[in-house]
Amino acid sequence: MRTISLSVVIITLLAAVSASGQSAQTQVTFTKDVAPIFQGRCQICHHPGTFAPMSLMTYEDARPWARSIKEKVLMREMPPWHLDKNVGVQYFSNDISLTDEQIATIVKWVDAGAVKGNPADMPPTRKFDDNETWQIGEPDRVITLPKDVIVKAKAPDQWPDILVDPGLTEDRYLKGVQIIPVKGFPVIHHIRTSLVEPAAQTLHSGKLDDTDGTLEVGEMGVFLNEYAIGKKGDVFPEGSGRLVKAGTKINFQFHLHSVGTETPTNVALGLKFYPKGYVPKHVISSTTVSVAEIDLRPNTDNVRSDGYLTLVKSARLLSFQPHMHNRGKAECLEAIYPNGKVEMLSCAKFYFNWHINYVYRDDAAPLLPQGTVLHSISWHDNTAGNKFNPDPDAQITWGQRTVDEMGSAWISWYYMSEQDYKKEVEERKAAQRILTSSRE
Ligand code: HEC
Repeated sequence: MRTISLSVVIITLLAAVSASGQSAQTQVTFTKDVAPIFQGRCQICHHPGTFAPMSLMTYEDARPWARSIKEKVLMREMPPWHLDKNVGVQYFSNDISLTDEQIATIVKWVDAGAVKGNPADMPPTRKFDDNETWQIGEPDRVITLPKDVIVKAKAPDQWPDILVDPGLTEDRYLKGVQIIPVKGFPVIHHIRTSLVEPAAQTLHSGKLDDTDGTLEVGEMGVFLNEYAIGKKGDVFPEGSGRLVKAGTKINFQFHLHSVGTETPTNVALGLKFYPKGYVPKHVISSTTVSVAEIDLRPNTDNVRSDGYLTLVKSARLLSFQPHMHNRGKAECLEAIYPNGKVEMLSCAKFYFNWHINYVYRDDAAPLLPQGTVLHSISWHDNTAGNKFNPDPDAQITWGQRTVDEMGSAWISWYYMSEQDYKKEVEERKAAQRILTSSRE
């Protein structure tokens, strides 16, 4: 299914490219056509001083990469937004992908020799301020690592999990959350944080008596948020929030990338709370729709595993984040409705170096009736063809460690009253959003 949809995209794009001809007037140039796309969609990461492998600020920077750029944008590997465009919900609040037209423009530019064009057409240079600021408002609590992580000048990428006790002494509802790199910005590929509640900590109690407050543990807790360059803070819609219980610890899972100089690294996680005593109408939960077992035989591709989760009340689904380890390839999330109908909500390719949280736009967030079963479908590739696979001859099973595998769809949602659910479904129907059609 995935191969078919991708080839459809490529054929459509190639048709668009050849139909428009190559006359002088329509010649695609860097300065006129490509630079604006790079400014809007690429330079946030591809500018000097970041972890990205090269700058795409100028023609001279970009020209040597032309072939690779064509390939990565055609495959929709870059910008990193790996959602299948041919199936499921297509409206997201954090979508950074290129349109088909933008891809066609870039491909045309490369195929016609990647010319510079008239320097006068070049838009003014985009400026970047890498000192990020709080977009969630001044946080009530800022959590940093008690000691910096030192990233060596030269080393393979690292994925440390670091557990921090922020000393939270009361239950509070979260209104917003954001991560800001405070040291070592260029080495931070991305970060995922999780809430590790007291009950979950006792499960690992043998490991947690760490005196300086940081300890590398396996992956644990419930997904909270993720950071990559250009990622804004998460602010929950008014009246909705997440509960952070007293005694909760924060697990930071880093992806760190050496850049040639030894770099001390630290981050600030900002938490913005609702006022004390305030209980939001919609309490957001995060959990996984997760497989129980994984059985990856050596040198095997397209191994499928399925997970299920039943919604005990009607709900609004807020986000979807495929989560696998090195051998992950793709993941889908579908809804099996109480009436037996099935709807694919989202599918995405998976690359181990990106952990993208796909946040549904408010007016497209799936509304799911009570009794819906969410079904995750994960595919793994345990062959040498997967460049992230450290050992295709290994037999792999389920586990928390990076060397084991997982197949989880992290989802965020909140339960709704039947009344609110019905009202919103009616509003969607009135607005002629197709997403409710298969449900009733
Ligand atoms: C969120 C940050 C980010 C954005 C946005 C982004 N890139 Fe990248 N890009 C990276 C990183 C990091 C890598 C290194 C490989 C990896 O980690 O996936 C990369 C790798 C690449 C490569 C492969 C380089 C090589 O070593 O062969 C190309 C080509 C590329 N990007 C082009 C683009 C283009 C074109 C855009 C915009 C249309 C873009 N990228 C947007 C971060 C980004």
